[in-house]
Order: sequence, then C-alpha cells, then structure tokens
Amino acid sequence: VLKRSFSASAVRNTIKNVTVIGGGLMGSGIAQVAAQTGHNVTLVEMNADLLKKAEDSIIINVGRVAKKLYKDDPDGAKKFIENTRSRIQGSTSPTEAVKDSDLVIEAIVEKLGSKHALFKSIDNAAPSKTIFASNTSSLSIGQIASVTSRKDKFTGLHFFNPVPVMKLLEVVRTPDTSDETYQSAMAWGKAIGKTCITCKDTPGFVVNRLLVPYIAESVRMLERGDASARDIDIAMKLGAGYPMGPIELSDYVGHDTTLSILEGWHEKFPDNPLFNPSSALRKLVDEGKLGIKSGEGFYKYNK
Ligand code: NAI
Repeated sequence: VLKRSFSASAVRNTIKNVTVIGGGLMGSGIAQVAAQTGHNVTLVEMNADLLKKAEDSIIINVGRVAKKLYKDDPDGAKKFIENTRSRIQGSTSPTEAVKDSDLVIEAIVEKLGSKHALFKSIDNAAPSKTIFASNTSSLSIGQIASVTSRKDKFTGLHFFNPVPVMKLLEVVRTPDTSDETYQSAMAWGKAIGKTCITCKDTPGFVVNRLLVPYIAESVRMLERGDASARDIDIAMKLGAGYPMGPIELSDYVGHDTTLSILEGWHEKFPDNPLFNPSSALRKLVDEGKLGIKSGEGFYKYNK
C-alpha cells in the first residue's frame, strides 16, 4: 500500500482551469487574481450585460495592478494586461463552463436556495475530479455541499474584499472534505499568492466570527450612548492599533450585509447572544442608509 503524506509544502498546485460563478464584487476579483497568476479562468454571469460589467471592472483593476507592478516598464505592463485578459473567458452557461474545470468557485448571491440550485445543476456536468468551492461568508459549507454527490471534493474558499489586495484566504474543511481536496485547495491558494489559514465549518469561520459580533457590539455601544461614533473609531484605531474603527468598518462592509449575517445566525443559533440582531442596523437598512455604497450610514460620504 502506497502511503501518501500531505504536508502543505509537498503538494504542488495541479489546478489549471478555474471556473468562477458570479461576477460581482467578489467573483470578478477572484477571476482577476486567478488569471494574473497564470490560470485559465471561465467567469460565469447571468446574462451578457452582467458579464460585460464584470469584465470591464476586471480590466480597470488589472490596469491598476499592472501600474504598480511595472512602474517604469510600460511594455511589461502592457504584456501583463494582455496575458491576464487572454486567460479570462466569459460564459452565461454554468453547465458548459464547468466541463473542463479543475476548480469551481461559487460567488453568487448569499442565499442557500440559489447556491443549492446552482450546485445541483453543475454536479453532473463537471468531471468527477473537479473540486467545488463556495466563497460564502455566512452559510454552512457542509449545508451547501449537501446537494452534491462530491462532498469529499467540496471546500470553502473564503476571500476578502477587495480580493486583489487582501492577502488572506480562509480554507474551510467540512467533516467530509478529503485530505486531498484540502491540500489541493491550500496549494492553489498559495499559487495565487494568498496566505491560507484552515478552519472548521463553523459560523463566520475565523474572521467574520470575530468581526461581526465586534461590529454589533460597537453599534450597541452607540445605541446606549456610551460614546460617539467618532470616539469609538478613534479609540479602536489608536488604542488597539486597528486600521479602521468598527463604525467605519460597518459603513464599509454595508449594513444590509452585516444585518443579514446576524439575522441568519440568530435564526440558526437563537441562544447565542453574540448573534443578536441590532435594531439600529435594522433602522439604517430600512432607511436605505447602507453605508459607503449608498452615500450614508453612520457617517455621510460624497458619492
Ligand atoms: P454581488 O452581489 O456583488 O455579486 C453576486 C453576483 O452573482 C451578481 O453579479 C449576480 O448577477 C451573480 N449571480 C447571481 N446568481 C447567479 C447564478 N445563478 N449564476 C451566475 N451568476 C449569478 O455579491 P458579492 O459581494 O460578490 O458576494 C458573492 C458571495 O461572496 C456571497 O456568497 C458573499 O457572502 C460572499 N462574500 C462576500 C464578501 C464581500 O465583502 N462582499 C466577502 C467574502 C465573501
């Protein structure tokens, strides 16, 4: 019997063809980073207009990266942009797009029903070797994977916004994720230039499990009148060394996002007080004050 050992450094990246489904904020960033690091990428959106929008935003962002990487080398920058662009193709058919894929990353809306429908539809269309991954922030990877026949080849790949800038990748293992799948995911994460951490399939993984209750408590602090928004932010920046205060961070993330994560967790784990939804966030969302993206949250922004 051949015994294989899987130490992280021993496993080489074998993933070449990557399919990213959902070309919004996260999916377009994931597609960009994968293409920049030499992978063939198929990006899937719902229709041609959305695909064009995703591709346009990738072109702008690749241009930014090229400018940084090739400061005094316009020819190098041009080549980098061309090479990256040539590695990305668009598709509006998930079943077609997964046919030759080594890794499928789902980055569509944060709704379990939509994710189930998608994974059900591509499970038979993808080769049996293909690894499936979800970029979900708040849903259970195991629950998403449950509709597929490849639970051993299913993992969480949780990126951070903006994907080309943020260094971290959370690699989430369910009890069914095989060692081989996990090691492939880790090797791929390294190959795209991310620092990977491993965590179990628990609500919020590591970063959001800590960050969401922290934001919620800062909002409760504001509601209680303990301190002003500005003072809470200054306190955490200068007292804890955080680059952004929690109220600013909440405006950056978007109150609709934070609230829906909290409400989802609260519904599933009603006894955990850390997941109690916040009435102040609910009020902001009802008023359309979603944060930076809507021009106003706790603070006002110039659009
Ligand atoms: P988004 O709304 O910007 O993008 C979602 C995209 O998916 C849209 O362009 C939509 O047209 C497309 N889409 C929806 N259903 C589809 C389908 N069946 N087939 C193909 N495309 C479809 O959302 P965002 O922010 O990019 O989030 C996507 C996922 O990433 C969510 O699961 C979210 O929880 C997760 N995430 C979000 C982060 C963030 O900071 N926004 C951070 C980390 C993870």
